[in-house]
Amino acid sequence: MAYEYIETETRDGVAIVTLNRPEALNALNAGLIAEMGAALRGFDADPAVGCIVVTGGEKAFAAGADIKEMRDKGYADVAAEDFITDDWEVLADLRTPTIAAVSGYALGGGCEVAMMADMIVAADTAKFGQPEITIGTIPGAGGTQRLTRAVGKSLSMYMNLTGEFIDAETALRAGLVAKVVPQAELMDEALRIAAKIAGLSQPVVRVAKEAVNVAFESTLAEGIRFERRTFHATFAFEDRKEGMAAFAEKRKPAWKNR
Ligand code: CAA
Repeated sequence: MAYEYIETETRDGVAIVTLNRPEALNALNAGLIAEMGAALRGFDADPAVGCIVVTGGEKAFAAGADIKEMRDKGYADVAAEDFITDDWEVLADLRTPTIAAVSGYALGGGCEVAMMADMIVAADTAKFGQPEITIGTIPGAGGTQRLTRAVGKSLSMYMNLTGEFIDAETALRAGLVAKVVPQAELMDEALRIAAKIAGLSQPVVRVAKEAVNVAFESTLAEGIRFERRTFHATFAFEDRKEGMAAFAEKRKPAWKNR
């Protein structure tokens, strides 16, 4: 499929979605968001895809929602179209594991999209920020919510109230990103992790992802109960039996994804 604002490819069970609007630092206009949503939905429905990597360019993962596209909208417009809703949350809703590979700026909606992925792998050049306050608005796609859950109140308040950016090392210390690597190694490392996930039992990986996500939506007791029951449920998978048999027999498991 030909896209205008993104590029896609698949390699050995891993799908790559590359935001590709470099002249605007991958600013997220309606067209880019619609294309990203369509590509992500397609890969999520493809049983041959075991992990999806979303990335941008060297200078910018994405510098936010497209300010020029929204500057003339009024309240009635954004309320009527429920602006920053259609297709924006697709990445957060996928069942397939996802990785955001971030180099350069991940600002505003760019930081928010990265946070919708299951994990962020960052280049040492990455800069994360919620600068909406400096253009007279606030985040609309999770910058006050997912960021606060990821890094805690104080750092989130600092980022949301000043609009200042944090670097990759700060993001790592705060728990916003899983790993920081030299810029030149970003895609190799993101694809290595993605291939590892794609090479595991897909139904088990999916329930593991679902269980982690329950931690954000439940009390601890409810979350533990969900985890325990889901752990029990993995005993219905042929792959659970295979994984433990392979361990005991000192061989590699042959996953059937069943
Ligand atoms: N929207 C539209 N265009 C953008 C953009 C954005 N968010 N970010 C960058 N661009 C455009 C610039 O206008 C510029 O275009 P022209 O060449 O046509 O002038 C081009 O991309 C290159 O950008 P700069 O010349 O500004 O590059 P720089 O290296 O000097 O600065 C930057 C880089 C610090 C990231 C700066 O571009 C910037 O501050 N961008 C805006 C960041 C921002 O405020 N993001 C939040 C948007 S609101 C939002 O995202 C709401 C939400 O929660 C969903």
